[in-house]
Amino acid sequence: MPDLALPVIAVLATGGTIAGAQADATSAGYKAGSFSVNDLLAAVPQLARIADIRAEQVANVGSQNMTHAVWQALAARVDTLCQDASVAGIVITHGTDTLEETAYFLSLVNQHDKPVVLVGAMRPATALGAEGPANLYNAVALARHPDARGRGPLVVMNEDVHYAREIQKTASAGLCAFASPNRGRAGVMHGGAPCFYSRNTTVHSSQSEFSLALLEKAGWPRVDVVYAHANVQADLIDFVAGVADGIVLAGVGDGNATDLAIDALSRAAADGVAVVRSSRTGSGFVARDVELDDGRLGFIAARDLNPQKARILLMLALSVTRDPAAVQAIFDRY
Ligand code: SIN
Repeated sequence: MPDLALPVIAVLATGGTIAGAQADATSAGYKAGSFSVNDLLAAVPQLARIADIRAEQVANVGSQNMTHAVWQALAARVDTLCQDASVAGIVITHGTDTLEETAYFLSLVNQHDKPVVLVGAMRPATALGAEGPANLYNAVALARHPDARGRGPLVVMNEDVHYAREIQKTASAGLCAFASPNRGRAGVMHGGAPCFYSRNTTVHSSQSEFSLALLEKAGWPRVDVVYAHANVQADLIDFVAGVADGIVLAGVGDGNATDLAIDALSRAAADGVAVVRSSRTGSGFVARDVELDDGRLGFIAARDLNPQKARILLMLALSVTRDPAAVQAIFDRY
């Protein structure tokens, strides 16, 4: 019998290590997305004390296989649940590899202020000391908490709370694999309640001009990331410019690359491909017209968005404009 006094929290599962299974509890190898949402919830019986859980399996993939099709289904479902007054909050279980991308995407297309919390785990569900159950408990506790409203999608991992725009996976293994390098984490979970350190001052949710409908109408503009390195050549860029609507350069340092690569990117921009310069360094700021003459070259500066998030913002920007100056204004605002 559901406790009518408890808030309803929708848990949408998409797979990942949090739902992963190993051959035995100490082995390094495992298969992500092996357990169902009901298995995940059964491992945390304490949830029944804090929420009336409505579980749904949206996908069951390792998040390296996250696709725009899953984003479309997920965003549509989140939108419906946000409009359902009986639902207090939404939790999305997700693989950690692209968790930050899904969170950022939702922060720009979900127009509602209802709490949406993404959560994963670095250890598979069958591991010794699996942290998924504690993370899931914290995610539900956060999603039901009034302080979580109006902040855009949040991510909870290892008792830290992060804003979608800021969070980044910064290590391939270990429990401390997430950080918000530029602006710091949003807060922490303590005793099943959030303690926030800052407000989310960036554009998100109801202030966002983007939507799933606009993206679908524009046919999900194709944006690819090109990674710079010593001796990077032009031919890869020429190829990408032939198939993409936009290119994000994961540049060295301040979003830079070899003269050959910069020339190729400038040719692409002249041909109408949107070119955004970002940094592969993992933190910091790529400013317009500092190291390169962006105005002359036709480039857009990503500011403090990492390449994978700049890809998402560029895709959404291209759903409303193809004018590089207008796209730069979007990067300046968001
Ligand atoms: C994945 O992203 O699905 C695999 C890695 C993980 O969840 O930690």
